[in-house]
Amino acid sequence: MKGIVFTEFLDLVEDKFGLEVLDKIITQSDLESGGVYTSVGTYKFSEMLQLLQHLSEHTGISIDDLLLVYAEHFFSVLEKSYPGLLATYNDPIEMISSIENHIHVEVRKIYPDAELPTFEVVERTENSLIIIYKSSRAMHHFGLGLMNKTFEHFNSTATIVLEKIKEDGTEVKFLINKN
Ligand code: HEM
Repeated sequence: MKGIVFTEFLDLVEDKFGLEVLDKIITQSDLESGGVYTSVGTYKFSEMLQLLQHLSEHTGISIDDLLLVYAEHFFSVLEKSYPGLLATYNDPIEMISSIENHIHVEVRKIYPDAELPTFEVVERTENSLIIIYKSSRAMHHFGLGLMNKTFEHFNSTATIVLEKIKEDGTEVKFLINKN
């Protein structure tokens, strides 16, 4: 997992829950990195999982809800860092349909070692999209947060329903309907 995902996460934790909680979750976790991340480095996903688990225990907020809120913050990082990539699109359904064949293809050029999910478009109309998310990291709620913000970016909203295909969340169907 790329360092930018860690650095932005830890910034958000400090911002929302304070330095003490940030310190606690780092100390409680068994981190090869020692909890020191650079945005261009690459670190084990298991480190993120431990940080999330400990934060969830401290706050009583589920890992899915933490990932959802984090993704909504991460979208603004993407907007700032990759304005050109986002400017290619003028519709949220078009943009979400293009993650697999365009957006994450470009991400892979910037970060060859990025660990990305796959998104398979099952059905697409002007105002709806059915897409299947697959990833061993089961970060579907991170995807949900990014999708919510994608609609907001285009001054729109959507109703998004998740259906787990696999119980462990490594395969999830997203049913997206523009409001
Ligand atoms: C992960 C970039 C848009 C879904 C990532 C990562 C980067 C990235 C850098 C981390 C990879 C790693 O840690 O190794 C971008 C950029 C985007 C974009 C630059 C747009 C300009 C989206 C959108 C979605 C999405 C709109 C909506 C569903 C995900 C998910 C992950 C991810 C779910 C977590 C990894 C996993 O589930 O396996 N993306 N992304 N991305 N991205 Fe994107």
